[in-house]
Amino acid sequence: MAAASEPFRLLVLPGDGIGPEVIGQTLRVVDWFGRFLGRPFAISQDLVGGACLDTHGVPVTDAVVETALSADAVLFGAVGGEKWDSQPIHLRPEAGLLRLRKDLDLFANLRPAICYPELASASALRPELVEGLDILIIRELTAGVYFGEPRGVETLANGVRRAFDTQAYTSEEVERVVRAGFDIARGRNRRVCSVDKANVMQTGAFWREIATAVGRDYPDVELTHMYADNCAMQLMRRPKQFDVVVTDNLFGDILSDAAAMLTGSLGLLPSASLGAAGPDGVRKALYEPVHGSAPDIAGRGLANPLATILSFGMCLRHSMRAPEAADRLEAAVRRVLARGVRTADIARPGEAGVSTTQMTDAVLAELDAM
Ligand code: IPM
Ligand code: MG
Repeated sequence: MAAASEPFRLLVLPGDGIGPEVIGQTLRVVDWFGRFLGRPFAISQDLVGGACLDTHGVPVTDAVVETALSADAVLFGAVGGEKWDSQPIHLRPEAGLLRLRKDLDLFANLRPAICYPELASASALRPELVEGLDILIIRELTAGVYFGEPRGVETLANGVRRAFDTQAYTSEEVERVVRAGFDIARGRNRRVCSVDKANVMQTGAFWREIATAVGRDYPDVELTHMYADNCAMQLMRRPKQFDVVVTDNLFGDILSDAAAMLTGSLGLLPSASLGAAGPDGVRKALYEPVHGSAPDIAGRGLANPLATILSFGMCLRHSMRAPEAADRLEAAVRRVLARGVRTADIARPGEAGVSTTQMTDAVLAELDAM
């Protein structure tokens, strides 16, 4: 492992929409922890998504991918916007993010959904259903229908057009993400729910077979299986039944948005995308808020920076291996929420809410006071 005084090389990719605002504020928190840990950050910042398309004609450049591969971690804002919606699919801002995930082999996407008691009333569900909620969705991130070949649009002999994508998984791809789920469940409540469509899809039955086999290595962790449609329903009906949910790329995309709304706001949810541990135990990693680029509020200082700040918290925990620092940051965020500081997305009816900068000021003030 690197000596504590060696700089931590962080590649920062703000992206589009509210990305630059929430990243800009998060860098103040990064700076605070550099001082706190006595470990300097070597930060490089670059373009991704629509911003990169406008300058370089591609959603991510080879040079940025190279830098990402050699960095200790990537901090990512958000990509996308109406301006680029008519681009062909491989030249949309989102393709930049997908390439980073694939080229860095970030197969395990951790999306915690925690409902802070102070925000239970902001949830779309009744407070008693979500108070104390603590779910971790682990989404497979580098395979499945997002990347399967062949894909395309063709014109059949009869002139009818036909579009197709391919859902495919190898046993290794399923096994490594399911294993990640079991390993993480051991540090939590030791329950894994594997989600698939084994009743309809070949890949679903395969997913379930592999998950069951991996489960035999973890007799101390309870494994259950659930169909994806039922999981969507159960998340709304009784969300606290879940501990760790492991699922494929597409189901994970959908179910993590649903789980996010249980917590009151998409503006609060961080994520970590992790690769395999290298010989030194270090994993490639990209940290990003679960929310998107929210073009409707971009540039107005209204965005909630907490999802990005908490994503940096996951970086402290998983890449910098500074769990006490991560705990400290999460505690500071909880205190800020407990004090009633609210951005517009989580404000009570009739309340204006503080700005992106003011929310960050409040977090920094708590950190200073702790
Ligand atoms: C997400 C997003 C992305 C995805 C988009 C921006 C490509 O929705 O991270 O959940 O579909 O994976
Ligand atoms: Mg999504």
